[in-house]
Amino acid sequence: MQKLVVFSGAGISAESGIETFRDSDGLWEKHRIEDVATPEAWAKNPELVQAFYNARRKAIIHTEPNAAHKAVAVLERDFDVHVITQNIDDLHERAGSSKVLHLHGNIRLAKSSNPYLDHEEYYPIEGDRLDLNKDFCKEGFPLRPHVVWFGENVPAYDEAQKCVQDADLFVVIGTSLQVYPVAGLIHEIPLHCQAYYVDPKAAQQSLSTQFFKIPMTASQGMQHLIQLLQSK
Ligand SMILES: NC(=O)c1ccc[n+]([C@@H]2O[C@H](COP(=O)([O-])OP(=O)(O)OC[C@H]3O[C@@H](n4cnc5c(N)ncnc54)[C@H](O)[C@@H]3O)[C@@H](O)[C@H]2O)c1
Repeated sequence: MQKLVVFSGAGISAESGIETFRDSDGLWEKHRIEDVATPEAWAKNPELVQAFYNARRKAIIHTEPNAAHKAVAVLERDFDVHVITQNIDDLHERAGSSKVLHLHGNIRLAKSSNPYLDHEEYYPIEGDRLDLNKDFCKEGFPLRPHVVWFGENVPAYDEAQKCVQDADLFVVIGTSLQVYPVAGLIHEIPLHCQAYYVDPKAAQQSLSTQFFKIPMTASQGMQHLIQLLQSK
């Protein structure tokens, strides 16, 4: 079976109603990154950060996977599919994908806020809220969302890098490719790999000739891609 790696970003979840990051009406137009998505923000105002992610989690729990997430899951019938996502939502899993690596964390999980802890340990979150005064790790520190903030390391990066290095097919869906280091993954694919880029703004993205651009929304683009793969 050929190995097909999907690399997804906020755009794949847009049709489920989750706001993206950089589109003109995106989430981050309404919040300053430095106020809600950095270790400094947590140190300065953990209540605001916790409230921001509690609201994100609540919204995500009430959304459903869309046709694009489902199409990615269906690809498992014909390919060895590995999903690498920048998204903190769990819509790939809920659509049925079995191998999902979250580069920027998973909002349904929490971890210790102790910055000196030398290992990562995740705690499932019951319901939609984390409470600074009630939810603690084993060592007694408040739990924080399992989200990689700006300025933090990306612990899953090495695994993602290895995963793309022997891909036969590589499908990028709904990402502006502006958040590093993870956007650098597109440079790790092997020479024989056939690559596709599904995004309404695909035409504006400068990419190597290895990429076939599909300038459509995620659901339309995935339908188109499946037809292309079936015709080969
Ligand atoms: N759903 C989520 O979990 C979520 C949502 C917002 C932001 N984020 C985080 O913010 C970071 C943002 O980087 P990014 O590149 O993923 O997002 P981004 O906001 O920088 O880019 C979004 C991309 O999606 C495209 N897009 C918009 N609507 C689309 C649609 N219907 N179908 C397909 N593509 C569409 C845009 O053209 C754009 O290229 C990520 O690291 C992620 O962790 C996650």
